[in-house]
Formats: sequence, C-alpha cells, structure tokens
Amino acid sequence: MSVLEQKAAALYGEKKYPEALDIYLSLYQKSPKTEKYSIFCGNCFDAMGEPEKAIAFYKRACRINPISTTSLIALANVYYNNGDFKNSSKFSRKILKKFPDNASALLNLGNIAYCEGDFETALAYYETVYKNNHSSYIAVINMANTCYDLMRYVKALEYARRALKLYPSSVDAYIIRGNSYLELGRYQKAERCLAAAVDLRDDNPWIYVSLSRLYQKIEKWDLALEAGWNAIIYAGEAIEEQHINFGYLLYECADEKGADMVTDYARRWKERFPDNKKVEYMANALLQDTRCKKAEPEYVTKIFDTFAPDFDDTLATLEYQVPEYLAQVVADVLKKDIFKPFAYLDLGCGTGLCAKAVKPIIGWSNVTGVDLSRKMLKEAKAKYVYDDLVEDDIVHFLQNCQKKYQLVTAGDVFTYFGDLRVLIEEIGKVLAPGGLLVFSISENTYNTDDYYLTPSGRFVHASDYVLKLLKKAGLNKLYMDKKPLRNEGDHVVYGYIIAAEKVLEIENA
Ligand SMILES: C[S@@+](CC[C@H](N)C(=O)[O-])C[C@H]1O[C@@H](n2cnc3c(N)ncnc32)[C@H](O)[C@@H]1O
Repeated sequence: MSVLEQKAAALYGEKKYPEALDIYLSLYQKSPKTEKYSIFCGNCFDAMGEPEKAIAFYKRACRINPISTTSLIALANVYYNNGDFKNSSKFSRKILKKFPDNASALLNLGNIAYCEGDFETALAYYETVYKNNHSSYIAVINMANTCYDLMRYVKALEYARRALKLYPSSVDAYIIRGNSYLELGRYQKAERCLAAAVDLRDDNPWIYVSLSRLYQKIEKWDLALEAGWNAIIYAGEAIEEQHINFGYLLYECADEKGADMVTDYARRWKERFPDNKKVEYMANALLQDTRCKKAEPEYVTKIFDTFAPDFDDTLATLEYQVPEYLAQVVADVLKKDIFKPFAYLDLGCGTGLCAKAVKPIIGWSNVTGVDLSRKMLKEAKAKYVYDDLVEDDIVHFLQNCQKKYQLVTAGDVFTYFGDLRVLIEEIGKVLAPGGLLVFSISENTYNTDDYYLTPSGRFVHASDYVLKLLKKAGLNKLYMDKKPLRNEGDHVVYGYIIAAEKVLEIENA
C-alpha cells in the first residue's frame, strides 16, 4: 500500500470521509483502471450519504473487473440500504450465479425477503449460510429473529443459544431469548435473559420494551411503567415508536389499575417532551384534560399509519360492525329513491370498510374518501371502491370543498373529535339538499358532558349534544339507534348509529 493509500485508509477509519475521498479521487484520476480506487471512492460517497455517486463508482469498478465480487456486493448493499430491493436483489443474484455459496449475497437476499415480510424465504437463505458456515453469527442470529417472527419460539431459543456461543455478549440474542420465553409463558427465565441483556447494555430501548411487556403480563404494573419509561429515555431514533408504545402502556395500566397510577408518568412525559404534539395529546387524555377539543392530527396519522396493514384483521377480531350498520341504514333510508348523479363522500375513510359495505347499495356513484393517514389510504385504494382518495384533515377538506354530495358517511371518525360543532356545520354545507349523513358516535357513559376524552385518546359523545348540532346545521334526524360498535379489552363499546337528512331548501316564492 502506498503512503497516500495508507493515509486515505487512516482517514476513512477515523470517519473523515471527505478528506479520504480527496485522496482516493486523486489516485483514481491518476489510475482510472485500478478497480480498488473506484471501490474506495464509492465507499466514501456511500459513507457521506451520496448513494448515487457511490453506485456510479461501484459500477465503474464492475466494468474494470467483471469477475470481482467486491463491487457487486457493494452495489447490492448500497441499493439495499436505500430501499431499492429490486436492484439489490439483482446484484446479489449476479454474485450467486458465479459463487452460489456467497454468504453476503445470501444474507442480503434473506434480509430483502425479511423486509418484505416473507419470513419463510428469509429463513431459508439464512439457514443456507449457516449450513455452509456454522460460525456465522449473523446467519444464526437472523435465524433466531426470523423464527421468533414466525412464532417458532422453541427454535428461536435454540438459535439464539447458538448465537450466544459464537458471541457471548450478544444483546440481541438475550433479547430474542427473553421474548421467546415471554411468549412461552416462562416468565422467570424471560426476566433472567432480559436482565442479562441489561447487564451487557443498559441503554438499549428494546430490552426495556420487552421488560415492560413482561411486567405487564405478570401484572407488576409499577415495574412495567418504569421499564416503559426507560424505553423512552433510551429510544434514540426509535423515539416516535416508543412514545406510541408508552402511550398504550399508560392507557392499559390506567384501564386496569385506575388513572391515578399513571398520572405522575403522564405529567413527567409531557414535561420531558414539551414540543411533541402526540405526547401532549396522549398525556392529556390520561390526565383527563377537558380542554382538548380534537385529536392531534400528528397523533392520528402516526397511530393509523402504524395500524394500517393490520387494521381490517384486527377490527374483525374486535367484531367491529359500524360499516355494516351504516350500509343497512343507507339501504333503509334511501330505498330505491336514488337520484343521479350520485356523489358519495366517506369521511375518515380509513382502509375503506364503509365504502365497501355501502357501495353495493348505492350502485353507480362517484365515491370520494378522505383520511389523514397515507397508509390507511393505501389500503383503501386496494379495495377499488373509491374514485378519489384525498389525504387531508376532514375539516380542512370540507372547508375547501366546492362539490355537493348526496351521501356522506363517517364510521368511527367523530370519535377523534370532541367538539363536533364545526365538523357537523361543514358537513351540512357540502350536503346537497335532501342529502344524507350517516355516522356513528361512541356513547359518553363517563359523565354528563357533551363530550369526554377517554384515556384511550378517543372521544365519546352525548347523543343529545349531537342531535342539537345536527338541527343547528339544518340536518333533520331520520334514524338513531343504540348499538354495540366493537369490543375493547373485555367490554363492549356501545354507541349510536345516526342518519340525518339535509333539509330541502325551499326557494322563496
Ligand atoms: C377508526 S378508523 C375508521 C375508518 C373507517 N371509517 C372504518 O369505519 O373502518 C378512523 C379513521 O379516521 C381517520 N381520521 C381521524 N381523524 C381524522 C381527521 N381529522 N381527518 C381525517 N381523517 C381522520 C383516521 O386516520 C382513521 O383512518
């Protein structure tokens, strides 16, 4: 290695990438046909967060030496790290054509399958690497993790044990073992593994997430809260996810043990993260702050973006019935009396369950769905019932809406609003004369207020309050019935299905 190369390598090792790059670029310019200079330039660009330039240099290296795997591996990795799985997989497969046992390529294909949720395929790739090389820690820890995701907890335990043999201070292996024991109901063993993980690394948030789950399971709520709090403190980049986890934990604790138990944590949480709107909203719900009038849009978006892929399945298990109720009321109220053109607006459309249930009744129509959560809208799109899907806050959408609708539905959406005055007023404005609004509310059984923000972050309403607002907005109640809407924990959430018609405007003679 020349003196210059040594200097560049040292700078790279010290993470002084631009300085290292300067030297490698000068070497590359002097000797453009030397493969390693192209690769080193690519590595510097990659480390500096410039993947396009890195790719250009790696491709140059490939042209210089078409049989080299180094540049192909680098290309596969850089594409993978930038979420381009198609190209990443293309280059990994190129490597495998020449070297069918190449561990980097096999691991990379495994990781791509894992990210795409194809755990069986991922496991098969990792197992191939492990079969070829029983000292591959990365293969066996990935096998353990994937088995855990496949709910093969006994296997996960065994692979994590083997990982620990290869790398005794593997925090990940202890976490996987802890989580697997937790799932198998062997709580003492789970606690021991997680304690071992803390001994190795006491600032890893995922250990505390697991500990918090464990203590929740065995109903040691004070320890669960303490672990949940540590998960937030050490969350680093995963902070938003940890906030949501902590919010759920506080809610579940409040539900089980009463709100008093979480008050201190909710206050500390708000104080520690004063600029986080989601935290403020969740903490306010737990502190029963009566000043909240509407769910924070950032909170709604985060919750439903996270929930979107599992929303339909989860709600089916909760016996969520609102879409069917709304569809039945639409059928009963409209009868066959549909005037065309028929424009239908589904507010807070989510994954499209309401429009899917209603569309067969109204037949030909133009259907618009509005929702804050992009990921919910993505699911809705896949149902092929909407002509338009709009990512927007529903009040903002309504206030800027030029169109009139013959039907508006809102299934389990008013529950993200406390004060319904503006929302109902705006719906009244976009309904065509004679147009129909059908929606659900959850019943306020907590107190006699018009609305109440429950610790779960959802509002419940008094039906009288809603009826009063409908009247004020020129909407005439046609139907109202109390129904079980869905299950929550071990109880049923009751609410009302309400239909109201926009009063026909009588022209002055
Ligand atoms: C419980 S889901 C119900 C979804 C759908 N209506 C159904 O019945 O399956 C509530 C939906 O309302 C949306 N949402 C809540 N507040 C909103 C707002 N202010 N603007 C737009 N969408 C909102 C959420 O993103 C979520 O998709």
